Amino acid sequence: MRYAPKAQTLIALETSCDESAVAIVRNNVGHLELLTSQIASQAGEHAKWGGVVPEIASRMHLEALPLLLEEALADSGLSMEDIDAVAATVAPGLSGALLIGSVTGRTLASLYDLPFLGVHHLEGHLASILLGDNPPKPPYLVLLVSGGHTELIKVISEGKYTLLGRSHDDAAGEAFDKVARLLGLPYPGGPAIEVVAKLGDSRKFPLPKGRVSKPGGGFYRYAFSFSGLKTAMLRQVESIKSSGKTLPLEDLAASFEQVVSEVLVSRSLCCALDQGLNKLVMVGGVAANQRLRKMMIDKAYKHSIEVYLAPKAFCTDNAAMIAAAALSRLGTGSLSSSMQLGVSPRLALDEASSLYNSIPPF
Ligand code: KG4
Ligand code: ZN
Repeated sequence: MRYAPKAQTLIALETSCDESAVAIVRNNVGHLELLTSQIASQAGEHAKWGGVVPEIASRMHLEALPLLLEEALADSGLSMEDIDAVAATVAPGLSGALLIGSVTGRTLASLYDLPFLGVHHLEGHLASILLGDNPPKPPYLVLLVSGGHTELIKVISEGKYTLLGRSHDDAAGEAFDKVARLLGLPYPGGPAIEVVAKLGDSRKFPLPKGRVSKPGGGFYRYAFSFSGLKTAMLRQVESIKSSGKTLPLEDLAASFEQVVSEVLVSRSLCCALDQGLNKLVMVGGVAANQRLRKMMIDKAYKHSIEVYLAPKAFCTDNAAMIAAAALSRLGTGSLSSSMQLGVSPRLALDEASSLYNSIPPF
C-alpha cells in the first residue's frame, strides 16, 4: 500500500447495480472539480423483466466499461498518465456486478502503478452532496433514500457515521418500483410515477403512513415501513378494477408520491429536531423527486433547519459520487485499499473504514 500523491485527480468506476459509470474528479485544495461523468444505464434492458436481472447486469457492465473509460478520458482531455488514483465501488450491491468494476479498477491501478481505493456505495451517495455548490460541514443528518436503502444517518465527522433510523421492510425506491409495476408503469418506477403524478390529485386516496411498533408499545420515531402502503395500493387497484372503472392512474400515483414524501419529510425532521441537528442532507435516487425536494425545503424552513439536496444528476447511481467519496478518504489521510480487497453484497456503512485496512475485510 502507498500514500496517494498530493495533486489528486481520481478516476472512479461504479457498477453496483444497473448503472455502469465512470467519472474523473479532481481535488483542488479541498474543492472538487468534476472533469467528466459518463453513465450507461441498463434500465431499458431490465425493464423487459420488471426489475434488475443480476446476470444481465454483470454482462452489460463488462461490455460498457471499456467504452465508458475511453469516453471519460476523451471527454476530460486526459490520459491515464494524468491520473493519481483509481477507485471502484466494492460493497454493497450485486456481487457479480461489483466484481466487474472492482477487477477493472484494480487492473488499471496495477497497470499504471496507482493506488486503488475500494468505496462503500452508500458512502458514495453521502458524498454526492460534496458535488453541489455549497456542501455542508458535519455534523449533519442525512436522509439516504435509494432503491435499496431508506436510512437516517448522522454524519459526525468525515467517515464517522451513526445509523439513527431505517426502513424495516421495503426501501422507498423499491416501493416506487413495485407500485409502478402495479399501475402498469415501466421500470424504474420512481421517474415514471413522478411524470404521471404531476397530473393527479394527491389527496384523492387516503393511504397509510406505515409506523413500526415497539415491542413494549408505542412506535419507533425514526423507523420507516413501506410494505403496508404497497398492500394498500394493491387493495385500491383491485377494488377499482372489480367495479369495472378505469384506473385513475394520475390520482393513484399522486396520492402515493404524496404519502411517501410526507413520511420521509416528517420522520427526518423529527429526527433532526430530537438530535439537535440543524442541517439536513438528502441523497439517493428517490431524492431526485421534485415533490419530495420541495416538501423537504418548505417544512424544514418552518423549523429553521437548513436543507442540502444532492444535485439531481448525482442522486441516482453515478461514478462522480464514488470519486468524491474516495477523494474524501484520501483527504482524511486514509491509506489506499489492499489490492487483495474483494467485493461484498453487504457491508454496514459504519464499517466503511475497514475497506482501507491492510488486511481487507473480504
Ligand atoms: O440511488 P439509486 O440510483 O440506486 C440505488 O442505490 O438503489 O436509486 C434508484 C431508485 C429506484 O428505486 C428509482 O425508482 C428511484 O430511485 N428513483 C426515484 C426517482 N428517480 C429514481 N424515485 C422517485 N422519484 C424519482 N424522480
Ligand atoms: Zn445507489
